[in-house]
Amino acid sequence: MDFAPPYARRGLEHDPQWYRRAVFYEVMVRSFADTNSDGIGDIPGLISKLDYLEWLGVDALWLPPFYSSPLLDGGYDVANFMTVLPEFGTIDDFQELVSQAHARNMRIVMDLPLNHTSDQHHWFQESRTNPSGPYGDYYVWSDTDEIRQHIRIIFSDTEDSNWAFDSERRQFYFHRFFSHQPDLNYHNPAVHSEMHDIARFWLGMGVDGFRLDAIPYLYESDEGTGESEPETHEFLRTFRSFLDTEFPGRVLIAEANQWPSETAEYLGTEETPECHMAFDFPIMPRIFYALRSQQAEPLQMVLAETVDIPPGTAWGVFLRNHDELTLEMVSEEERQALYGWYAYDPRMRVNVGIRRRLAPLLDNSRQELQLAHALLLSLPGSPFLYYGDEIGMGDNIWLEDRDSSRTPMQWSPDRNAGFSDADPGKLYLPVVQSLAFHYSSSNVETQLAQGTSLLHWVRNLIHLRKEHPVFGVGPLTVVSSDNPSVVAFVRDMPIEECKPGESPETLLCVYSFAHQPLSVTLSLPESFRANRVTEITGGGRFPSPNEQGQLVLTLPPQSFYWLSLAGIKASVA
Ligand code: BGC
Repeated sequence: MDFAPPYARRGLEHDPQWYRRAVFYEVMVRSFADTNSDGIGDIPGLISKLDYLEWLGVDALWLPPFYSSPLLDGGYDVANFMTVLPEFGTIDDFQELVSQAHARNMRIVMDLPLNHTSDQHHWFQESRTNPSGPYGDYYVWSDTDEIRQHIRIIFSDTEDSNWAFDSERRQFYFHRFFSHQPDLNYHNPAVHSEMHDIARFWLGMGVDGFRLDAIPYLYESDEGTGESEPETHEFLRTFRSFLDTEFPGRVLIAEANQWPSETAEYLGTEETPECHMAFDFPIMPRIFYALRSQQAEPLQMVLAETVDIPPGTAWGVFLRNHDELTLEMVSEEERQALYGWYAYDPRMRVNVGIRRRLAPLLDNSRQELQLAHALLLSLPGSPFLYYGDEIGMGDNIWLEDRDSSRTPMQWSPDRNAGFSDADPGKLYLPVVQSLAFHYSSSNVETQLAQGTSLLHWVRNLIHLRKEHPVFGVGPLTVVSSDNPSVVAFVRDMPIEECKPGESPETLLCVYSFAHQPLSVTLSLPESFRANRVTEITGGGRFPSPNEQGQLVLTLPPQSFYWLSLAGIKASVA
């Protein structure tokens, strides 16, 4: 199929808040498409797939690190921030990617791991060999590893301390992640200048923003928890004002795996802004919980607790990404239940989470995949899809760590799933060949040939969402239901959010997690008592709520409705 758009190429549309309506797609350069037959995905490969991504409805790409790196942590171990890993391509290739993406009105957001570097970085090499030299103070050194023992260990499967001894400098260095990833010392202003220069370098090439990796951990102190310390926020405020002054319109996305109120702090305030977006970590595991428990309450509670965020900011919502499905933001009881349902084989677990992809997690159930995607595309914030999930790609738990869900994209039933024409043994990771998810049937080409495939379904839903900007910018109101398996909410577009030509809109989204059909009575607040209710995927008329605002619906197992509410009575609207 030719994905080339039928219309002339255009540049980026001017919209300073584009990220609030965008559909994001996370794709690792290494995993998408290999054009030089070395078995490793590359930037020209990604460029060759931009037409596909545009067809899918993607507005922005999030690219995990593609800097020079020994790749001991998927590239989050950066050895040089100003270069592209040669296997992935060159700076020229990257510039071509940016301009080709922009020509399609698609943005590029890249990862910026600010907290640490690889131990191969020349800053670290010089720091350990020359303590009184210019890089001597770039990392967090200590004569003892007895301090800051209360700071929790994140990679608990591989690390037993946040300190490691360097035999050259004969001191300990601090590391929140792997021991080959020393933490930078943010008490040193020179580190700040370096980060500004690095950001300038990429922004100068037209990059539309950064995902700020592991942002809560920048500063640590003897008394604090090493997470979200006040100076970390101070750094972010300065970083944001640098961005607004030198590169207005570019965005910062916080990766802060914290509770909602703490995460919201990364958005700052209207007067003192920090990031434009922050990932919503607590909501994600509750979707998985609801799918198995058939109980909507934990999800509903987290939705009802919606934290007010400053105007112009947004949440980033996701089902899966390149990391484990993290279970840090749930109670111990919920965590054990989730492990039992989704990680019954110990190989499926890593750290505090589950290292599986979406489709295997949901046992390849089409209903569950649809329900999960519908939620993803209708929750407040902008959705982030993970490459391959649109075709229900499988994983490989026999691979180490999070590589289980970083295998090559499956394009066709051909050799190496069409990812590369290298000798299969040369691939950076093998393609998935499990019984249920073999690439011969799970691939883009096969799914394109079948109108009812998951790929077509996901694409249609993405395009439907884009026709209703209320999904991006409308506030959410939870609607009470009399059935514990149902969660319902209204998304309502305020007139101030409408762009020229748009009109305010009110949508009622209803989800049933029950494994059997059910009937539910929803109680609509007065301001949403419409007299015309229409299902938006097909335009079918639905019953209207009665005078008391009660709306009775029946739902098939694990299903959803997106209903437009119109004709809301003027006297109460
Ligand atoms: C990234 C991980 C990485 C870690 C350390 C994270 O938050 O998403 O993939 O291992 O940072 O850099």
